[in-house]
Amino acid sequence: MRVLVTGGGGREHAVLWKLSQSPRVSRLYCAPGNGGIAEIAECVPIRATDVEALTAFAAREGIGLCAVTSDDPQAAGLVDAMRQAGIAAFGCTQAAARIESSKIFAKDLMRKYGIPTARYESFDRLEDALACIQTRPAPMVVKADGLALGKGAVVARTREDAEWAARDMMEHGRFGGAGRRVVIEDYMEGREVTVMVFTDGSAFAEMPPCRDHKRIGDGDTGPNTGGMGAFSPVPDYTPEIAARARREIFEPTLAAMRADGCPFTGVLYFEMMLTADGPKIIEYNARFGDPEAQVVLPLLETDLLDIFEAVAGGRLDPESVRFRDKACAIVVAASRGYPGAPDTGHEIEGLDALSGDVLAFHAGTKRRSDGGGRRYENSGGRVLGVCAAGDTLPDALERVYANIHKIRFEGIHFRNDIGRRDTR
Ligand code: AMP
Ligand code: GLY
Repeated sequence: MRVLVTGGGGREHAVLWKLSQSPRVSRLYCAPGNGGIAEIAECVPIRATDVEALTAFAAREGIGLCAVTSDDPQAAGLVDAMRQAGIAAFGCTQAAARIESSKIFAKDLMRKYGIPTARYESFDRLEDALACIQTRPAPMVVKADGLALGKGAVVARTREDAEWAARDMMEHGRFGGAGRRVVIEDYMEGREVTVMVFTDGSAFAEMPPCRDHKRIGDGDTGPNTGGMGAFSPVPDYTPEIAARARREIFEPTLAAMRADGCPFTGVLYFEMMLTADGPKIIEYNARFGDPEAQVVLPLLETDLLDIFEAVAGGRLDPESVRFRDKACAIVVAASRGYPGAPDTGHEIEGLDALSGDVLAFHAGTKRRSDGGGRRYENSGGRVLGVCAAGDTLPDALERVYANIHKIRFEGIHFRNDIGRRDTR
């Protein structure tokens, strides 16, 4: 079967790497892809949000399945369009994508169906938001309603900070239309954990729990990023907490989406806070996380094409989805300047020196035009992730850190403490 994946980050590289192991895949395409992806798939120069061009391409090339793994294309209706064109698509519909693309939609859904989350109010007028801030105890969290590249949430330590954040979003147009409406919610105390599930709308299969590191600097300092590293499994996500999350969060969320007429299919990402009152939702994502996908897909035993097809066809058998009982970790190497404007165009060296059992998932790389073979330069903020599995989390992390030091490019930086707090 010919399979098309849309996007071009580390997550898509991991998805394509896993799909490339399927004996049933005859040809892999990625739109638009990146330097590393070009080694395993044919990169097609179409933006992942260009719904019309992608559907036309898929029809012309006889694509048997299109996997939509990022948020914007789903919100733009790519899965709906593929299905209308008679092409099987993995991912969620535009209506279901609101669970990520509108925080207000997600929060209202949780309130309506009693799914545990922080107490909140939503606003479309600045005066009302400011009045609410005066009545709430700090800290509190101010969130832009729409998609903001993972940067739309501000944890405000004081009322003044919260006011500033609300003005920034609603008055000064930070995040554009995404910040016109905001959610103000209670601050939750606890540690974060992510569980992603494959689901066909009713049945679901959980992936191993993982934890990411969002801040740019060691010790969780500095600004938020898309994610600087991750690992799986998570020691403090106990079987008791897992059972509670399943009963109080996963099952009710999928039932709520069905009841509201937009069943969720694809990967649903549950970002939870493990509070003293049990797990509560911080947010949903309507897709694999990046870099969370990169630490669970290497542990997946089942053929990913089988899962994608079962999900697209509404016949997922959760028992058929199996993961190895091992640990996996990734550390992301970023460009100088990131999460601000990255300094790009520098040659990446050392990829050939990585140990055989270590993976490098490319995100912001492109092939160098001035030479043949495997020569790459950095072309984005997050450049690549070095990823390894091991019997235990310390094993996996040791392998990653022994190898990431072999990668060199001008301005490279990465965190030195991924997973440290959980392996002490
Ligand atoms: P979000 O964009 O909703 O995932 O939020 C980004 C980050 O802000 C999360 O990963 C948390 O670290 C933090 N955060 C968001 N909401 C809350 C909350 N209600 N309480 C505490 N931390 C939060
Ligand atoms: N790493 C967080 C995300 O993919 O949204």
